[in-house]
Amino acid sequence: SAMAEERALAMVTCTAPVNIAVIKYWGKRDNDLILPINSSLSVTLHQDQLKTTTTAAASRDFTEDRLWLNGEEADVGHPRLQACLREVRRLARKRRDGSAEDTAPLSLSYKIHIATENNFPTAAGLASSAAGYACLVSALARLYGVEGELSEVARRGSGSACRSMLGGFVQWQRGERPDGRDSLAHQVAPETHWPELRILVLVVSGEKKQVGSTAGMQTSVDTSPLLKHRAEVVVPERLALMARHVRERDFEGFGQLTMRDSNQFHATCLDTFPPIFYLNDLSRHIIALAHRFNTHHGCTKVAYTFDAGPNAVIFTLADTVAEFVEVVRHSFPPAANGDQFVRGLPVGSATLPEELLAAVVTEPVPGAVRYILHTKPGPGPQLVDDPSQHLLGADGLPRRCA
Ligand code: DP6
Repeated sequence: SAMAEERALAMVTCTAPVNIAVIKYWGKRDNDLILPINSSLSVTLHQDQLKTTTTAAASRDFTEDRLWLNGEEADVGHPRLQACLREVRRLARKRRDGSAEDTAPLSLSYKIHIATENNFPTAAGLASSAAGYACLVSALARLYGVEGELSEVARRGSGSACRSMLGGFVQWQRGERPDGRDSLAHQVAPETHWPELRILVLVVSGEKKQVGSTAGMQTSVDTSPLLKHRAEVVVPERLALMARHVRERDFEGFGQLTMRDSNQFHATCLDTFPPIFYLNDLSRHIIALAHRFNTHHGCTKVAYTFDAGPNAVIFTLADTVAEFVEVVRHSFPPAANGDQFVRGLPVGSATLPEELLAAVVTEPVPGAVRYILHTKPGPGPQLVDDPSQHLLGADGLPRRCA
């Protein structure tokens, strides 16, 4: 029958966003299923500034599964990638068994080719497995015609990836079940909810190697009593509070809690044995700067948060961006190498009052911040309609190198 006529080549391209947690995920209760010891809450960043693009193709002519990351062929056998692939195929099979009419007659036995790239330099240390796995799962799901709850699949790639499956303000519910079926992401508020909210990523110079999240959080679970207390007592209270601050667009509350939660995450790293250090002298310099800025203004104007790396992420409101960027420019005078210091959304100009300069800018560190990326909350994964945007050609091989 015509139904049995399977398509020879199918190709789908999706994009997916980076997210930044304001209530941090740190620690797993199940390493294979990637089930967290506490719920977390994040803001999805806009894809105009930071995104991953992934093309997935399936063909009866492909002889093996293949993967290209930023134009370089990579190992397709990674267990987490295989878990995502297996789960999407399982959902596709389930869907087909349950419906009389097969809308996407794409053979599940075809080999697949996947190409993925980021619109930001990997060297910037922003390379996010969250955007990567969210994008992979989105593209595979479209390829196989799977719809509905996919955060559970993205979670199998990287815990934080489940939060990149939605836009705006996203909560990852830890869930209670041992099989993880209730460990899902859901939207607290859409990206349009808080139009004035802005994010400044301070991309810092130097320093590449540190303990990865996966290994780091395992050691923390094994050794830190503070982490246990955090997961059992602190986070449940904070999560409800943070969701309320978001719903009420209360920057004072949102900012305070964001800073406190980042600081507690790094405290659990220090409480890990042997200890893990993600914050360095520059991070501490930025933290002190933010507090001096807020003290000068008499309220919370900027809030910092740091993950398992040296870049600082600053939350603020649109009316504060120009002034704070100027403060950063004075505190970390850019090296005159022609590199654009401010990137992303446009930043207006500001002249700093003398008393602000005197109170806030102490001991400038030239060149310490490479550049500032200005962005805002954004939507979840998108399907790319334009076939000229596919990263793979009709032959199933990468079109161009990154
Ligand atoms: C500090 O999601 O990268 O960014 O689940 O092992 O892949 P795995 O870890 P990952 O951890 C992210 C940790 C964090 C905090 C957060 O994003 O919530």
